Amino acid sequence: MTDARAVPAERHEAAAQTTILIEEIRKRYGGREAVAGVSLQVRRGEFFGLLGPNGAGKTTLVEIMEGLREADSGKVTVLGQSPWPRNVELLPRMGVQTQSSAFFVRQTAREHLNTVAALFGVGREAADSALEDVGLTGRRDVMVENLSGGQRQRLAIASALVHGPELIFLDEPTAALDPQARRDLWEVLRGLKRQGRTIVYTTHHLDEAEALCDRVAILVDGRIAALDTPHNLVSSAGVPTRLMIPAGRLSPEEALGIEGVDSAELQGGSLVLETRVSGQVLTAVDKLAGLSDVQTRTATLEDVYLELTGSLAGTGQDGDNDTEQQA
Ligand SMILES: Nc1ncnc2c1ncn2[C@@H]1O[C@H](COP(=O)(O)OP(=O)(O)OP(=O)(O)O)[C@@H](O)[C@H]1O
Ligand SMILES: [Mg+2]
Repeated sequence: MTDARAVPAERHEAAAQTTILIEEIRKRYGGREAVAGVSLQVRRGEFFGLLGPNGAGKTTLVEIMEGLREADSGKVTVLGQSPWPRNVELLPRMGVQTQSSAFFVRQTAREHLNTVAALFGVGREAADSALEDVGLTGRRDVMVENLSGGQRQRLAIASALVHGPELIFLDEPTAALDPQARRDLWEVLRGLKRQGRTIVYTTHHLDEAEALCDRVAILVDGRIAALDTPHNLVSSAGVPTRLMIPAGRLSPEEALGIEGVDSAELQGGSLVLETRVSGQVLTAVDKLAGLSDVQTRTATLEDVYLELTGSLAGTGQDGDNDTEQQA
């Protein structure tokens, strides 16, 4: 009897842990397939990043999850329901900042946010606190059209957060933000994650994805090229670590004699070694030349991203990536 109940309970548990499930989603615009068969799952409480070059299909995919666009085929389940056709039950549970945000015209920042708050049935305190979260309190009485680009973007983010949704979609929220505002937003988002909210996030800032996201999907030409934690992506990519040794301490020939050194080249006052076994090579360098002023640069998500998008993108795109790769 307990066995008979165990399976449904597990299934129920799995469903409770899944905030978004998309299966084999396709979307074509004219002759071009913007999303070409994408399946993924976003877990409850997860900070999920969608990365990929311009035109990879990120916004299209996110808008399908948000219920703003209909997929040609495949299945989308968001918070246990289908977001399409426009599902009003889901609206209060989701916060959406689109890549091209629209505002109520002829209103101040605060009036705009009060209007959004009223639409969701939350009070003015929520609007003021959202303005505070995005650092706009000092600009709240400025007309929306007189805000700077970055301030308008902050207002769009505040509009997505004002009703305290459990699922938040942010499409390149930091694109127009200054470095300080970007870091401030990271803190706001980390706070939201701590409260157990689920966040779907697109960005071209790979440091940001690495700092914030539990998992990222890298989209290339409408397909998932990789999906994992930033940590696993970086460690499984086999991108070499670079060691920079002040020139003159070790010759390239000596360096190439160290087991595990893949290449050794003089560049800008340093001897640059590439290796996939950095610990072993550092020990050898220490013995031969000492480690003082030796710098290491380990692989980052950006390296993984460039490797994936550089090698996979392109059939239908301009192939101007090659020249950039020449050192
Ligand atoms: N409404 C539309 N009509 C026709 N084509 C579209 C439309 N929206 C997007 N596309 C095309 O679909 C592809 C994917 O676009 P999408 O906006 O999803 O990319 P993205 O990954 O969000 O890019 P970006 O990083 O520039 O925001 C692009 O080739 C784009 O030109
Ligand atoms: Mg986009």
